[in-house]
Amino acid sequence: MSRLSLHSWLVAAGRPKEPGSALNVPIVPASNFELGGNRVYTRDSGSPGWEALEEIVGGLEGGEAIAYSSGMAAVAAVFDQLGTGARIALPDDCYHGVSELARSGEIKGRWQVSRLAVEDTAGWISAANQADLLWLESPSNPLLTVADLKAICAAPRKEGAILVVDNTFATPLNQRPLALGADISMHSATKFIGGHSDLLGGLLVTNRPELLAGIRKSRSVNGATPGALEAFLAVRGLRTMALRLEKAQETAGRLALWLASHEAVSLVRYPGLESHPTHAVAKAQLDGFGTMISFDLAGGAGPADEVCQRVRLIRHATSLGSVESTMERRAAVPGQEHLPASLLRLSVGIESYSDLRADLEQALAEN
Ligand SMILES: Cc1ncc(COP(=O)(O)O)c(C=O)c1O
Repeated sequence: MSRLSLHSWLVAAGRPKEPGSALNVPIVPASNFELGGNRVYTRDSGSPGWEALEEIVGGLEGGEAIAYSSGMAAVAAVFDQLGTGARIALPDDCYHGVSELARSGEIKGRWQVSRLAVEDTAGWISAANQADLLWLESPSNPLLTVADLKAICAAPRKEGAILVVDNTFATPLNQRPLALGADISMHSATKFIGGHSDLLGGLLVTNRPELLAGIRKSRSVNGATPGALEAFLAVRGLRTMALRLEKAQETAGRLALWLASHEAVSLVRYPGLESHPTHAVAKAQLDGFGTMISFDLAGGAGPADEVCQRVRLIRHATSLGSVESTMERRAAVPGQEHLPASLLRLSVGIESYSDLRADLEQALAEN
């Protein structure tokens, strides 16, 4: 297909071309195929639904994509590439599942982990020639700090090192890590790609052939394969991702500004706010500031929990990136106790700004 805009690619890619075929790749609930063709056994030779998903996301990110059963399965496939004694550089703020995976491998003596502040660009640059895996997540979950990916990716790396960017919060529409010099872009497709809180999925995208072979093999031998229905739903979600993101992001920008002026709120973290510590990098690097807002309440953990109980339109739920807005107090999540006690992470959906603002207004009124 000639070079399409990302928005058109989302709609046009990953469709059967044969005359008479359905416009959407059907759900193929198959594990086994008649021998003699391209497919043998799904875990090894893939399924049409995954391939449609991989074609779309690979095209968005400028590389080849491999789909997994969840974001964490995709993360684990990267860690699976490491040899014993590998050195890992991990952000101080990132998805806690990744921290747990890194810590559990460290406890078992598989590798060593050092943590770096997301915004410590000089620290990442000097870690680049020592670490075997540089794991970046930007914007980070849940503090929404933006790493200077261009500068970090340009730093000389140790031979064989892998630089990964968890691009889940940015989406491929707002940020394309491979173009910035990363080796792998990673997604929890559970979030914005699926977009409807109805699936678990993950993706890795790379333009390095030797890495592609390794991460594909890892999916096959570890059995971290996506389900046929999940792949279908992820493709269905992708068709409208640009519209969903555009709408939710516009609302998030307005809500962040409004929250920043609310007397019950002590701090708003949103990369689009000029007051945000990494706003300048966000402005230079991202095509949009995203749909996630983290804000602290003046009153501490108790009032923050009450706000979560009082919201009506916004759902009190943990995941993010969906059509419905969700919110939770992150320090209440096991393993996240180090976070500011009152920090509420809000994933803005596609409801109207006025309804979301009214919901927050009534929920914050008693604080
Ligand atoms: C930034 C980020 N990366 C990775 C993951 C893990 O993805 P999954 O839950 O699909 O395994 C999550 C899940 O919340 C996430 O927020």
